[in-house]
Amino acid sequence: MTRVENGSMKAIVCAKYGPPEVLEMREVEKPTPKDTEVLIKVYSTTTHFGDTRIRRAIPLLVVRLLFGLFKPKKNLVLGIELSGVVEAIGKDVKSFKPGDRVFGLTGFGLGGYAEYCCLPEKVKDGTQERKGIVIKIPDSLSISDAAAIPSGSLTALKNLQKAKISEHKKILINGASGSLGTYAVQLAKFYGAEVTAVCSAKNFKLVKSLGADKVIDYTKEDFTKKTDTYDIVYDAVMKTGRRKSKKVLNKNGIYLNNYWLSSIKEADFIFIKKLIEENHIFPIIDKTYPLSEAVEAHRYVDTERKRGNVLLKVTDEYPV
Ligand SMILES: NC(=O)c1ccc[n+]([C@@H]2O[C@H](COP(=O)([O-])OP(=O)(O)OC[C@H]3O[C@@H](n4cnc5c(N)ncnc54)[C@H](OP(=O)(O)O)[C@@H]3O)[C@@H](O)[C@H]2O)c1
Repeated sequence: MTRVENGSMKAIVCAKYGPPEVLEMREVEKPTPKDTEVLIKVYSTTTHFGDTRIRRAIPLLVVRLLFGLFKPKKNLVLGIELSGVVEAIGKDVKSFKPGDRVFGLTGFGLGGYAEYCCLPEKVKDGTQERKGIVIKIPDSLSISDAAAIPSGSLTALKNLQKAKISEHKKILINGASGSLGTYAVQLAKFYGAEVTAVCSAKNFKLVKSLGADKVIDYTKEDFTKKTDTYDIVYDAVMKTGRRKSKKVLNKNGIYLNNYWLSSIKEADFIFIKKLIEENHIFPIIDKTYPLSEAVEAHRYVDTERKRGNVLLKVTDEYPV
């Protein structure tokens, strides 16, 4: 592909709603940071379940209201999370400088599947999911892997906090081998809970390596029909439902399924960063695709078989 003009960049655009093949590599306008924004040179992003939902327009109404009613708005660039290096800052930005390694959520503006993305330096607490959030990458984490942290770890954290997870609580995590699941297992162990991981047998080794105490193969046994009971059932993969899960909840037990969470705050992200620095959590990377193979990456995520996270590498020039 040849450059069409200065100030343009390569991006993967969701041209229509539909199968992975609707994704197209295009030259689009390179963003310019506002006074309060940072311009990030993107190194990695993920093929997130959420990206595939937007591409498929599921849930139909929500996606279409947010991203375009009849077709995606012009040059809609997917990408819910990213990692990269600050290339330039707006005149009012104080806490970042060019060269800083950063990672974050892109908010409703999306935009990770591109060479550059602008994010606000800071937004009001409670608006991060909408407007985006960016912080510096801990030294212990590679810039590439950092892209796989924000969404999965923060969503799992908000779920476990909602259930007031604590030492000795018994938690069952359904879909423990997925993005949310692998973070939920690690976080639940950090809080001292007893973890039962539900996944297929091929992923037993993975979830045990993350700390799971017990495992159930969902292809052979239905956990809702067993006699073991739990203080928390986290249906991370959203496949079982509240009514069935209630059968294995203790009195006052809590069912979680990624809905009705309190909003993500900067303090949550800083807490996640601390847990990475202290080696309590790390991202599981299943596969890495170059940006040019975004269609292939989406086909893989659509199988619903991924283990942890799937990275999209936007550039080969990794500084560290
Ligand atoms: N990831 C996020 O940050 C995030 C945030 C908010 C909401 N969500 C929502 O949460 C759900 C899960 O997201 P995710 O990213 O964690 O998914 P994911 O990584 O794509 O989940 C794939 C994993 O789920 C397992 N799995 C598939 N069917 C299963 C079943 N019936 N029972 C148990 N495990 C099963 C697969 O293991 P096998 O190969 O062994 O089947 C695979 O390892 C999605 O609906 C997503 O939209 C995700």
